[in-house]
Amino acid sequence: MVTMISVVVGMQFGDEGKGKITDYLCSNYDDVVRFNGGNNAGHTVVIDGKKIKFHLIPSGAMQAGTVVLGNGMVIDPLKLLDEIKQLKLAKDNIKIVISGRAGVVTELHRILDKKEEELRSNSSIGTTSQGIGPAYEDKYGRLSIKMYDLNSIKKIKDKLNQLIAMKGLLTGPVDIDRVSNELYSAGSELYEYIGDASEFLEDEYRLGKNILFEGAQGAMLDIDFGTYPFVTSSNTVAGSVSTGSGFSFRRVEDVIGVFKAYTTKVGSGIFPTEIGSDDLRIAGNEYGTTTGRPRRTGWLDLPILRYAAYLNDVNRLAITKLDILGKLNQIKVGTSYIIDGKDYERFPDKIDPESEITVNYETFETWGDISSRISGYLGSGYDALPYNMRKYIEFIEDSLNCSIDIISLGEDRKSTIVK
Ligand code: IMP
Ligand code: MG
Repeated sequence: MVTMISVVVGMQFGDEGKGKITDYLCSNYDDVVRFNGGNNAGHTVVIDGKKIKFHLIPSGAMQAGTVVLGNGMVIDPLKLLDEIKQLKLAKDNIKIVISGRAGVVTELHRILDKKEEELRSNSSIGTTSQGIGPAYEDKYGRLSIKMYDLNSIKKIKDKLNQLIAMKGLLTGPVDIDRVSNELYSAGSELYEYIGDASEFLEDEYRLGKNILFEGAQGAMLDIDFGTYPFVTSSNTVAGSVSTGSGFSFRRVEDVIGVFKAYTTKVGSGIFPTEIGSDDLRIAGNEYGTTTGRPRRTGWLDLPILRYAAYLNDVNRLAITKLDILGKLNQIKVGTSYIIDGKDYERFPDKIDPESEITVNYETFETWGDISSRISGYLGSGYDALPYNMRKYIEFIEDSLNCSIDIISLGEDRKSTIVK
């Protein structure tokens, strides 16, 4: 059998349903790997009605044999320990590999995250307040505590003191002894899992194992390519698999782009197809997994998807929440923008906040509320799906020149159709 090396990425602003798709796909993979972000991510997996939420652990954990947390992540050891305990209750034979090179998120980073947001005042990003930005700042400032430091109380204390010395004005007084002891204690339980994740992946690859890399957030939140400054602090696109896990990009041959049938976003920043009504939020229960915040909602945005398809070089697509979109009487898709008189089919490199954006829309007929018919569709495959839904899917495929292979009609693992 041919080895499969795949990446799942989000094509919008996060919350596309990557968790569900990753869980679904992972019956075919041995290892599932996170390569970016931290517990700002919130991935929900539903198996036979039972909901499991992941923040740091890859969402493929229920199916894959090994979960890997790559060096590109920033990890809160206390939160990770809690998640591992939950995971072990559900699946005690799971193997866990945590890169020693991943950065550590501490209480100080959470304090800084909130302080920075306060100081940004009316230009605040609306972060998840999990300390992610400040932890990446320390990575690039060459100040991070690394996961491999957690076995030395002295290293932890020295690094925290250095952080305070350099950033003390913002954090205010912090009980370094307490924070160090908490980190050391969590570290002593995590240390058995900490190692060279890159070498582990190399060995797995040589053994012919199937490996799935699971992106967190989405293309529009990428630190380089997203709607800066309203982005997260890591690279979210497929290209960051290599730097975030130490696995060569030359070996990745399959990139699966996941998008929701409409668009949602938590936090501030540009959102051209935003709708000023609560319909989709209510129908789709659109509240953040990590923060519980109501998500902003809008129509599907093709300039964003074209841009994300190009950036990630996706070769197949997965669409989620079509069941929800059908609950609306009328459906629209943003097909292009006009910005300051110029046409854009793809999301542009920079949009001036002062610019006027007009979105061109195509209107579609609804397929209606299919909730009571979903189990029937699951048994019958793609061709039995409602005509209007197939028209919608095929319009997107034509626009992106890429096939939608995976169709999700509900949050449960079972509610999935593969074309
Ligand atoms: P941070 O990653 O907490 O710094 O937040 C930066 C921006 O990214 C904010 O707009 C967050 O709402 C957004 N964000 C971060 N992680 C996620 C996610 O997993 N899903 C959706 N939005 C996210
Ligand atoms: Mg999420």
